[in-house]
Amino acid sequence: MSIQFDSINLGSSMVGPKHGLDPAEVQAAQAKAFDALEGFRASFDQGRYGFPALPSRSAVQRQILACAAAMKGTYDTVCVVGIGGSALGAWALDCGLRGPHPVQAAHSSANPRLVILDNVDPEFMQQALASMNPARTVVVPIAKSGSTAETMATFLVVDEWMKQALGAKKASARTIAVTSEGRGDLKAFATANGLTAFHIPENVGGRFSVLSPVGLVPAALAGLDVKAVCRGAASMTQQSWAADLSTNVALRSALYHYLILSLRKKTIQVAFPYSNRLWGMAFWFRQLWAESLGKANNRKGRTIFAGQTPVAALGATDQHSQVQLYMEGPNDKVFSFWATDRWNTPGAIPKAKANFESFDYLAGQSLGKLIDAERNATAAALTAANRPNCTYSLGRIDAAHLGAFIQMLEFQTAFMGELMDIDAFDQPGVEQGKVFTFGLMKRPGYEAYAEAYKAYEKKRSRN
Ligand code: PA5
Repeated sequence: MSIQFDSINLGSSMVGPKHGLDPAEVQAAQAKAFDALEGFRASFDQGRYGFPALPSRSAVQRQILACAAAMKGTYDTVCVVGIGGSALGAWALDCGLRGPHPVQAAHSSANPRLVILDNVDPEFMQQALASMNPARTVVVPIAKSGSTAETMATFLVVDEWMKQALGAKKASARTIAVTSEGRGDLKAFATANGLTAFHIPENVGGRFSVLSPVGLVPAALAGLDVKAVCRGAASMTQQSWAADLSTNVALRSALYHYLILSLRKKTIQVAFPYSNRLWGMAFWFRQLWAESLGKANNRKGRTIFAGQTPVAALGATDQHSQVQLYMEGPNDKVFSFWATDRWNTPGAIPKAKANFESFDYLAGQSLGKLIDAERNATAAALTAANRPNCTYSLGRIDAAHLGAFIQMLEFQTAFMGELMDIDAFDQPGVEQGKVFTFGLMKRPGYEAYAEAYKAYEKKRSRN
């Protein structure tokens, strides 16, 4: 199992001193990286943050697998109802292991599909319900708070749809809740309706929860290799605690990203997977990086408006959409290519010549070779244009490597928070949006937010 980080194209000798890092700058900052490691380790040891321990919680993993095994054959669709950190991880795993949804194999009891209801678009909901058979569906409402408006509303609709078709008892037998153990209305609902429930540890935040029941329940129900995902992640946990920048990929890449942001003001990071199977992961990463690092205040309470805007681009597709901007637009970005060393299938291009020059040079080669060439060419072109870029390489795209990559990105984010001296684990901005929604939807106790909204509307009407 190997995850490599190539930082050469972040260096001043490749992209010039104005945009690249000087080796002396990296050397001088090493002590800061080790402080970040120590700081995060101390918080973990005090029990403040729990994601590093998730992959080794084998008892919970066994319970999840046993639950999925007991239900196997009774459903062809797993309907996840959740949003943000309660939805993106399941998609990242499913996309990574079974491919993007439009090209997945036909669904059946042996190959259940994942339908993720992570928006309250009424037309999306109507189409999703029309595509599912309640008697062949397992519903998984996921919310750590147990109260997020989008999730609660969607679940009310889906639960009613199940109950109308199957009756309350059968609907409840096909519903598995994932939420906090000791609080929240989803937990209370689960208890009142006798639902099977799995719990999210209190010290694990939504965007760091993919290897808790949040990601593992949908993954196990979909038949993904949960054990291998956790094995890969556990091995990355070990690697990420090492006080050695040559082996600790998470710490080294956090250091480079910190320096390129703070010293060279690259305020945008383009996560650029050259693999459709990593596309879901890029969207999961966007949330991880944005919500964790986008903070108004540092840990000392000083207002700093920190963060680096994550953008997802797909190689080679977005070479024909975004790369013009990346090459010639503002030099305010750092590019993180995501690559695989080995394709699970080479994608052989037929050998026969078509007798047209644009076709014939490709004959007998492979799609794998072409997409790798596209990535290398884009990296070279960006470098020539003095645009700093780096590459993460996964040995291959399988369950163990995906688990390891997830864990590496989570550690990298935690270290980045330490380096930036911000709290990478809270999300006051998200909470603010939630309470305003409660106010607008007339939830008792949130009237002040409804009033604040009225004042905003009044101000608008005067303009
Ligand atoms: O990372 C986070 O904490 C958030 O993005 C949450 O995952 C998101 O808001 C959903 O919250 P909940 O699981 O409580 O519904």
